[in-house]
Amino acid sequence: MKTISVKASENYDILIDSHLLENCGELVSRVTQARHFAVIADSNTAPLYADTVVRSLHRAGADCDVFTFDAGESSKNIDTLARIYAFLAENHFTRSDAVIALGGGVTGDMAGFAAASYLRGMDMIQIPTSLLAMVDSSVGGKTAIDIPQGKNLVGAFKQPKMVLIDTDVLETLPEYYFIDGMGEIVKYGMIRSRSLFETLLSHDKDSIKDIITDVICECVSIKRDVVENDEFDHGERALLNFGHTLGHSIEKYYNYSGISHGRAVAKGMQLITDIATRQGLCDEGLSDKLAACLARYDLIIDIEPSVAELADATLNDKKRTGNTIGIVVVHDVGDSSTVKMPMDDFIALLKG
Ligand SMILES: NC(=O)c1ccc[n+]([C@@H]2O[C@H](COP(=O)([O-])OP(=O)(O)OC[C@H]3O[C@@H](n4cnc5c(N)ncnc54)[C@H](O)[C@@H]3O)[C@@H](O)[C@H]2O)c1
Ligand SMILES: [Zn+2]
Repeated sequence: MKTISVKASENYDILIDSHLLENCGELVSRVTQARHFAVIADSNTAPLYADTVVRSLHRAGADCDVFTFDAGESSKNIDTLARIYAFLAENHFTRSDAVIALGGGVTGDMAGFAAASYLRGMDMIQIPTSLLAMVDSSVGGKTAIDIPQGKNLVGAFKQPKMVLIDTDVLETLPEYYFIDGMGEIVKYGMIRSRSLFETLLSHDKDSIKDIITDVICECVSIKRDVVENDEFDHGERALLNFGHTLGHSIEKYYNYSGISHGRAVAKGMQLITDIATRQGLCDEGLSDKLAACLARYDLIIDIEPSVAELADATLNDKKRTGNTIGIVVVHDVGDSSTVKMPMDDFIALLKG
């Protein structure tokens, strides 16, 4: 078993191995006094994995109740959250009980926010089941739900007591979502790790599965380092947003349903690297290297809108955050920084 320790406002361990679900009862007992667990899972992960988790909790002498919601981003809203609160109340959960998120990023974000807010805070355990949740959303303590005005607008920082990454569950993850997670993994290589990037370049979407545990560990370590330096997102944590400004504009253009997050980020990384290359901010061959890496994971994406059209979406999106924008630029593989510029200059750059 690999253990990655996080030292944030609360310290916790991220455990990475196979067979962790079967042993989760014993593992979580080490970090929480809770004897009653609310297992929150979606309509795909509950039938696959809730029984294993419940059985393990029972074996460890704990009690539990399972809450299931319809899978998908469209459930990450105030209605489902209200149903989770009602479920916690009706099942008599107290502040010394705990919430377990058993699912992808949607489950983790929403269950995490429920745990942050119900009774002003309960213990929280993350059991991420999608690749994206394993390498990104389950680590770092950001939780949120969407409101009609925008994604992730209501949320809280809530560090988990433990993160259990059981790599066996990737066997049932649909290929579409595996590739989506690979988009974020390429991002980690680009911003921080030449060796990870080289590893990705020398594999493809099939062969990478043979070494996925090592790849997950490397990504989680990078996220851990960044989050430890900047837990509350005032500086370095912004590097994790490489490719995300234009990626978000692409997702928005397609109403958050046409192009998935990891694919939008892949396209966003390419577009911003092309622009940065024209500005002389990065190594000449970088765009080609990135494209070669993305191609190995089916992450070369065609989109309808021009960059100029995306500029308008970006402008609308960023209006509420003021007149300057921080753009993450990768200068060479593994070497990145945030370049702050006036919003108008950025839009002018996009419009070329
Ligand atoms: N908190 C953060 O720091 C952070 C970071 C990145 C993304 N996010 C959020 O994460 C969400 C996206 O996460 P996601 O891509 O995991 O979405 P998701 O939770 O919807 O999972 C994707 C799909 O895979 C299914 N699934 C998950 N694991 C499975 C498994 N092992 N077997 C079979 N099916 C499985 C789910 O049911 C769902 O249909 C977004 O809401 C995003 O805002 C949060
Ligand atoms: Zn992302």
